[in-house]
Amino acid sequence: MKIGLFGFGCVGQGLYHVLNNSTGFRADIVRIAVKHRHKPRSVSADLITYNKWEILNDPEINVVVELIDDADEAYSIVSEAIKKGKHVVTANKKLLALHLETLYQLQQEHNVSLLYEAAACGSIPIIRSLEEYFDNEELEKVSGIFNGTTNYILSKTIKERLSYGDALKQAQEKGFAETDPTNDVEGFDPKFKAIIIALHAFGIIIRPEDVLNIGITTLHDNDIRYASEKGYRIKLTPVIRRLSGNRISVFVVPGFVKETSHLYNVDNEFNGVIVEGKFSGEQFLQGKGAGSYPTGAAVLSDVSALSHGYKYEFKKYVQQQKPVLTNNVLVKVYLRYNTREDLERLPFSEVSESYTGHHYHYVVGTINLQTLLAQREYILKHKLFVALAGEYVAAADETTGTLADAKALEKISLIHP
Ligand SMILES: NC(=O)c1ccc[n+]([C@@H]2O[C@H](COP(=O)([O-])OP(=O)(O)OC[C@H]3O[C@@H](n4cnc5c(N)ncnc54)[C@H](OP(=O)(O)O)[C@@H]3O)[C@@H](O)[C@H]2O)c1
Repeated sequence: MKIGLFGFGCVGQGLYHVLNNSTGFRADIVRIAVKHRHKPRSVSADLITYNKWEILNDPEINVVVELIDDADEAYSIVSEAIKKGKHVVTANKKLLALHLETLYQLQQEHNVSLLYEAAACGSIPIIRSLEEYFDNEELEKVSGIFNGTTNYILSKTIKERLSYGDALKQAQEKGFAETDPTNDVEGFDPKFKAIIIALHAFGIIIRPEDVLNIGITTLHDNDIRYASEKGYRIKLTPVIRRLSGNRISVFVVPGFVKETSHLYNVDNEFNGVIVEGKFSGEQFLQGKGAGSYPTGAAVLSDVSALSHGYKYEFKKYVQQQKPVLTNNVLVKVYLRYNTREDLERLPFSEVSESYTGHHYHYVVGTINLQTLLAQREYILKHKLFVALAGEYVAAADETTGTLADAKALEKISLIHP
C-alpha cells in the first residue's frame, strides 16, 4: 500500500509512529502534504509537499489518509481522491457529518472504500462493531461519552477543582483539544460523531442543524454542587435513541450520571459507548477518545482493513424501512435559570423539583426537545445550564407537543441506571 498522507499534526505524527512501530503490518507513507512551510518536521524533507496535487495526481498512491484540521479543504481532498479511484481513510468527523450523503454516493459511484473509525470516539472500534457485529440486530440506543476534551475538562474541574481555563489549557497541551476548542466545548464534535454513529446504528443520515447540541460552556459551580450533593457526576452525554413508530431521537446535552452508570468513572480523555440491542442487551466499550497514538492506531486499523479489501456495507441504510428523526419528544432536564423570562421561553410540561434562592434558581422537570432546540442560542447567551436529569424520554403528541397521556410515558433509561 502506498499512502499519501494529508496532515502531520497530532494524529498524522501518531499514525507515522504507530505504523513504523507496528510489527504485524506494512504500508509505506510515500508523501506527506502539510500547510506551513516554516514549521520544522521530524521526517525527511523529500517526503514533504505543500501541493495537494502531488498526492492526488500520483498514480502510485492508492490510499489517501486525510488528517488535516480544516473540514472544507478536507472535503475537497477526500472527494477528489475518491474521484481519482483512491481509497480514503479520514479522522475528520466534521467533514463526514456535513457531507455523509455525498460521500456515500461518491464512494459507491467510484467503487472505492472510505473508512473513518478514528472519527468517532478515537480508539474505540464503534463503527466496525456496528457494521460487523450489530449489522442485523435492531438497536434501541447508542449513548455515552464521545468527546475527550470536554470529558477531560469536566473530570479536572469537578474532581480536581481545576478552573475551566486551566483544564482546557491542559487538554490542548496534551493534544486532546482541537485547535479551535469551540467544536468540543459547545458539543458540536460529539454531535458530529453521533450523526456518524446514527448512520451505522440506525441507517439514517441526519442534518447537523436538526440535532440539539448544548455543551459545557455555561457550567457553573452551583451546578457542580447540585450534582455532587445528589451523588451525580456531570458528563457530556450524546443520546441516539429509538422511539415508538420507527422514530429516532438524537441530542447532545450534559447529563447527570449516577454512580451505578458505566459512564460514572469514565474520566479524562477516555470515551465510553453504550450500545443497547433489542436482543443482545447492553454492551459497553471504553477507550481513549483522543490523543496522538490512540487515534493514530485507529487510523492504522482502517489502513490495515483496506489491505484486506474492506468496505462499509451500510446495511441499515440500504434497507427499506428507514427510521425518521424526531425532536418532538419530552426529556427530563435540570435547568439553572436567571429570570422569569427564562422560564417563559422554556416552558416545562411538568416540574418535579424547583429552587429559588438569591442568586441561584433551578427547575427539574419535563420539557420538549423542540423547545430546547429553538432556544439554544438564548440558553447559551443567557448562560443557563441544562442537564439531563431523568431516566426517561417520551415521544410527545404529534399535534400538541405535550405528553397526551401520562401512562404513555416510555420509561427508557437514558443513562445506565
Ligand atoms: N487530536 C486528536 O486527538 C483527534 C482525535 C480524533 C480525530 N481527530 C481529527 O483528526 C484530524 C487532525 O487533527 P490533529 O489534532 O492531528 O490536527 P493538528 O494537530 O492541528 O494538525 C493538523 C495538520 O493538518 C495540516 N494542514 C492543515 N491544513 C492543511 C492543508 N490545507 N493541506 C495540507 N495540510 C494541512 C497542518 O499542517 P502544518 O503542520 O503545516 O500546520 C497540520 O500538520 C482532525 O480532523 C481532527 O478532528 C483528532
